[in-house]
Amino acid sequence: MISTMDDFQLIRNSSFKSASLLYVAVAICSALLFYKYCFPRHTLPLPPGPVPLPVIGNLHQLTTGDPFDKIKQWHQKYGPLISFRVGQRTVIVIGSYKIAHDLLDKQSAVYSSRPEFHIASKHLGRHMFIPVMPYGGKFNAHRRVITSLLTPVMVKRYQYVQDIESKQAVHELLASHDFSLIFERFVTSLQFTLAYGMQLESVERPEISEMMHIAHALVDGVKSNAITSVVELFPVLDRLPQFLAPWKRFWGERYHRTTKFYLRSLGYSRTEHKLSSWTWTREVMSAQQHVGEMSVTEIAHLVGTVNAAGVESTPKTLRTAIKALLVNPTVTQRAQQEIDDVVGSDRLPGFEDRPRMPYIDALIKEIFRWQPLMPLSMPHSTDTDQEYMGYRIPKGSVIMPNNDEMVYDSNICQEPREFKPERWLETPDLQVFGPFGHGRRKCPGEYLAMNSLFIIISRILWGYNIKYAVRDGRTVEVGVWDIDNKFTSAPAPFEAFFEVRDEHRRRIIEQEFSSIEKDVSQILRKVAP
Ligand code: HEM
Repeated sequence: MISTMDDFQLIRNSSFKSASLLYVAVAICSALLFYKYCFPRHTLPLPPGPVPLPVIGNLHQLTTGDPFDKIKQWHQKYGPLISFRVGQRTVIVIGSYKIAHDLLDKQSAVYSSRPEFHIASKHLGRHMFIPVMPYGGKFNAHRRVITSLLTPVMVKRYQYVQDIESKQAVHELLASHDFSLIFERFVTSLQFTLAYGMQLESVERPEISEMMHIAHALVDGVKSNAITSVVELFPVLDRLPQFLAPWKRFWGERYHRTTKFYLRSLGYSRTEHKLSSWTWTREVMSAQQHVGEMSVTEIAHLVGTVNAAGVESTPKTLRTAIKALLVNPTVTQRAQQEIDDVVGSDRLPGFEDRPRMPYIDALIKEIFRWQPLMPLSMPHSTDTDQEYMGYRIPKGSVIMPNNDEMVYDSNICQEPREFKPERWLETPDLQVFGPFGHGRRKCPGEYLAMNSLFIIISRILWGYNIKYAVRDGRTVEVGVWDIDNKFTSAPAPFEAFFEVRDEHRRRIIEQEFSSIEKDVSQILRKVAP
């Protein structure tokens, strides 16, 4: 009996113990789960980086001296993935293509938002400027329309306009060495023809300088209005009333100037004469039913932003190309040799020649790498906290691929400062960086830009030797590493002399130019899908 009682007690005790253990285990698990979901990953450290000060973070270290040099030093000290603070914002900088690809391409569903850009988004773009739109409904609507205009199939149709505009550009070089202006006309006219049915037949057309002005409005405005950066860092200041917030008027004027120009250009494509032609504007108007209602002002900004993005980037890349060809004559000769072997001297190169010109393809890849358009690429962001290799990537942080760090990494590219197109022939799958960005934010203009670069570079090389300019009997030197670092970087102004290769080629350039179609309605009829 006793034994039975003892047994019973024992059983009771042991079942009590196991029940208690179970309760404790359940309680611990619940606490862990609660902690995990309410305070996810907060125990994880940020990627390594310099210690921030209260309020300003690491701003003081970035504003004394060149911020690019400072970031480079931090990469050397802390590795390819670093973090620091600018004001209250966490900035994560990625200095390796592998990490950029792991996060921004492979996990693009979560890394495709943008951090909040207060001035650009609210004041300059009034939430209609896609490059700074956060991920979500409005972004999806704009992006869907833009990508539908720039699919590989559509872009193939635009080759006809690129053929015409590049013939004109190559012809203009017979009489002028102002290649920067010629490239600006080439790109703006190409895009205005497609967008509005407006061909810009001369470099004097005011639309070109206005478009360039708009494309640079943000960076120029930030430079000339110092308080803007403070508001960007401490957006709470924006709650001040108008009379205490002069930046509101400053950026408001820029917004109105841009909007007026975009609406006027849109209006041009809607005049009775043009209404019958296919244009991007018409495509966007008719896509409305798929993307939801957009006001005319919003459509004008959508089309205008695509133009601004194209004219900001392609002419600068072309200027880098000219500098690379000027200071690397052996590369130029090899490229000319390939073009001559494929095309001969009796006609200009065409798009159909591209598959037989691997060296020109390699040359274009090397132009992107050698002096990248965006040393720090457009920032991405996430809407939720993320984890990578044991580090916390906080939601809302500014995540920037550091292209400069990637392209000059001698572990990936030997002699990275040298301009060597052949590296792309020797290692065709060389992965250095993403010149057109990453994931769902990747540049939608990539195919159009690549075709522009191919056709104009191959035609210039076919027709001209690119030489140093000579003034007062002296060669005008070119600073190979003189680069204007704005948001997008470009060679500092330099001169070059375009010497037509022979009289036969001059005649062909003239003949080709004289026979191009000049009636824009006819051009658009051929381009229309
Ligand atoms: C050499 C020429 C070009 C280069 C190197 C270039 C590069 C880039 C890069 C790096 C981005 C940011 C991608 C990211 O956030 O991951 C971008 C965005 C963009 N680009 Fe380009 N681009 C070029 C030409 C063009 C052209 C010709 C167009 C239009 C016709 C265009 C339209 C855009 C637009 C609309 C965006 C914003 C996309 C978004 O935020 O979702 N780009 N570009």
